[in-house]
Amino acid sequence: MNTSRFDCEKVFSRNWGRSESWTLETYRATGGYEGLKKALTMDRDAITKEVVDAKLRGRGGAGFPTGRKWGFVPKDGDKPRYVAVNADESEPGTFKDRYIMELDPHMLIEGTAICCRAINANHAYIYVRGEFGLAERRLAAAIDEAYAAGILGPDAMGSGFALDMILHRGAGAYICGEETALLNSLEGKKGQPRLKPPFPAVEGAWACPTIVNNVETLAAVGPIIQNGAEWWKSLSYTEAEGGTKLVGVSGHVLRPGVYEVPGGLTLREIIYDVAGGMRSDDRPLKAVIPGGSSCPILTPDEIDVPFDFDAMKTVGSLMGTGCPTVIEEGTCMVRLLQRVERFYAHESCGQCTPCREGGDWLFKILTRLEEGRGTMDDIEKIELIAAKIEGHTICAFGEALAWPARSYVRKFRDEFVAHVEGQRCPFGAMPIAPVAMSGVVTV
Ligand SMILES: Cc1cc2nc3c(=O)[nH]c(=O)nc-3n(C[C@H](O)[C@H](O)[C@H](O)COP(=O)(O)O)c2cc1C
Repeated sequence: MNTSRFDCEKVFSRNWGRSESWTLETYRATGGYEGLKKALTMDRDAITKEVVDAKLRGRGGAGFPTGRKWGFVPKDGDKPRYVAVNADESEPGTFKDRYIMELDPHMLIEGTAICCRAINANHAYIYVRGEFGLAERRLAAAIDEAYAAGILGPDAMGSGFALDMILHRGAGAYICGEETALLNSLEGKKGQPRLKPPFPAVEGAWACPTIVNNVETLAAVGPIIQNGAEWWKSLSYTEAEGGTKLVGVSGHVLRPGVYEVPGGLTLREIIYDVAGGMRSDDRPLKAVIPGGSSCPILTPDEIDVPFDFDAMKTVGSLMGTGCPTVIEEGTCMVRLLQRVERFYAHESCGQCTPCREGGDWLFKILTRLEEGRGTMDDIEKIELIAAKIEGHTICAFGEALAWPARSYVRKFRDEFVAHVEGQRCPFGAMPIAPVAMSGVVTV
């Protein structure tokens, strides 16, 4: 039961303050694995139906309804099925899955096991970002504990259902968070996205039906099965989506961090009531990147909408990963965009020409502008290049490059123009640290 508009029953973070919150003992003390126990006695379709009814939507960025995705796995056929957990969390500004893996890894194991049961998969892979050392160690230890306790293994919780869980470490490539690149990487191939369709639920790992879900998505499943869809929906102010939400707030707020909030708070409430507001009174809010650096940027007059997948679209952006980056007055938007595009240019897998070349071009143009060497034509080129990337690549990495570029230029055009007219950055130069870049084309 919610006690105030900003407070809520803690689901994901219920154990975070406890000593050794990552152990099986702590997890079991607060009802852990009761959801799996129940799921192992349920009809498979009834598990999926409960997740559909709960209105759980994928927390990896796209917000696709989770139960519907599980329903796409073919009912017949003799191919094995797999679950692949997307624990690659590499989008700049996003840092909430890491908390689940480090502080309560059994929550992820339980939800993954229930998903396996629902789609009749006997193997799950957790694809964890290579740099997440602590998360990987905690997950590995938790998987060992689960095997030792008979939760995983040939006879999961005495149900007769065989279930193996394998931890797979990535090597630090952002693109391997894209679900089909993740599957290629898992198979030992180059981490490059595949053309869709076929979607992974039909043809995924080793060409077998595979459900790819985000860490937070799967962590929600144990409590949903344990307490029911109605309970999960009651934790959200939004009709279209159930449950609480982990928001990772970063940037120029007083109290950055990961917070569990009821679904449907507005972005303004999250920034001012949850994260303490701006860190300095004389530097008011200038902009917000709503959910990872790929989302179109918002201005202060656009943040009074619920922070959910549907409402964020009404202001031309996305909730994405649900981790807003808050930006104060005095921040140079040209420099910020230059830093964002440097990341994408560096991380492009190189498979599609618009992304491989376009990202590097954008970075070089923005560097010229920031260093006072840019022209008015450069500003137009940013929009032109972004338009040629968007929708012209195999995966949504292209959009991740293009959306920030277009939105920053449209909303902060005066600042870009000031860089050209003044032939310098009006906020004072801050040279960019060198980074090895792919591509050699200059624009
Ligand atoms: C370039 C790129 C990177 C992505 N990185 C991640 C990631 O690190 N973690 C994640 O869960 N989803 C990521 N996604 C989204 C996944 O492709 C996929 O939609 C998601 O794992 C599905 O899980 P969900 O339905 O539970 O959200 C990324 C997508 C793109 C295009």
